[in-house]
Amino acid sequence: MARKLWATRGLAALATGALAVSLTACGGEGAGGGAGGGDGEEGGLVGVAMPTQTYERWIADGNAVKSGLEEAGYEVDLQFAGDDIPTQQQQIDAMINKGAEALIVASIDGTALGSQLEAAAAADIPVISYDRLIRDSENVDFYVTFDNYQVGVQQGTSLLTGLGILDENGEEAADAPEGPFNIELFAGSPDDNNAGFFFDGAMSVLQPYIDDKTLVVPSGQTDFGTVAIQRWEQEGAQERMENLLTSTYTGNDETIDGVLAPADVLSRGILTALQNAGYGEGDLEIPVVTGQDAEAASAKLIQDDVQYSTIFKDTRLLAEQAVIAATSFLEGNEPEANDTETYDNGVKVVPSYLLPTVIVTKDNLEAELIDSGYLTEDEVASGQVDE
Ligand code: BGC
Repeated sequence: MARKLWATRGLAALATGALAVSLTACGGEGAGGGAGGGDGEEGGLVGVAMPTQTYERWIADGNAVKSGLEEAGYEVDLQFAGDDIPTQQQQIDAMINKGAEALIVASIDGTALGSQLEAAAAADIPVISYDRLIRDSENVDFYVTFDNYQVGVQQGTSLLTGLGILDENGEEAADAPEGPFNIELFAGSPDDNNAGFFFDGAMSVLQPYIDDKTLVVPSGQTDFGTVAIQRWEQEGAQERMENLLTSTYTGNDETIDGVLAPADVLSRGILTALQNAGYGEGDLEIPVVTGQDAEAASAKLIQDDVQYSTIFKDTRLLAEQAVIAATSFLEGNEPEANDTETYDNGVKVVPSYLLPTVIVTKDNLEAELIDSGYLTEDEVASGQVDE
């Protein structure tokens, strides 16, 4: 089972100093099994709400958080909501009713959990926003995530690198082709706070090249609202790409050179549309398509020269930070933030812990993903996380 595999990976990730300290503290408080040896029965219940199992990453996240908490001596209620907002609301209500002492939540719609958070606050349950910022509520105590703006910067940068405009160091390439290059833009779900950060970060890099006409967006669709894909759905991205191909690239000589795609699942929908339209056959090269999450299915496409890049966000490290934050609260302490400015949720700036991310292309895939143990060689070769 993938679950077991990720559990093992989660445990490996726990072998770092900071968490080892809090595990020791927890063991000392009577988990009974000694440092890190908790049996998950005496440390109290922690609710972990994840959005969906249709993205590999959330399964990995959920399982890594669960195994980290269990290792620290807590009992865990892990739920996936099938990307359905009422389901997630009910799951969190149920966690509170079952006596959860802390909540770790990756929201579907960042604004839809107000009443759950009020109930949590009334019961003194700390709430950790996981990867996605929960908005419009003061009852969010901490946020663990990656540097989301930087993810977008990296996506924009890798699009330019793939087109040959920048070199592998992100500098203007000495032999940069003049262009113009035709690109199309995609963004994530508008109700996910991250989607705007990714898009703004990417556009900060791409806009100057659009302004000087090195890059052209033939559809003219450049604003976030128009290019966003509701609920990050693969079919939505495939359909929008098909529509763009029909509306803008049919009956003329225009072809697409690059696509800003904000997540691997969407990249695959976009690539399917392109391949169905004949890209990748004969002289019609597959455009440079970006991604995010280093999913096995996309790692394979990168190895096979189909997808150009992804952004590696090590979910093992994010899970570890969530566990550190939860244990801090449960031990009566405040978790340590490394950013107290960026993430204003509309009501307050939520203290955050941001992790760095890495651009992955075919050149560094093995070093970043396989050598680090994030994916096995077999998983990359098959494009599937091992069962
Ligand atoms: C996450 C991405 C993920 C996307 C779709 C975002 O909030 O940060 O890693 O690709 O959701 O699930």
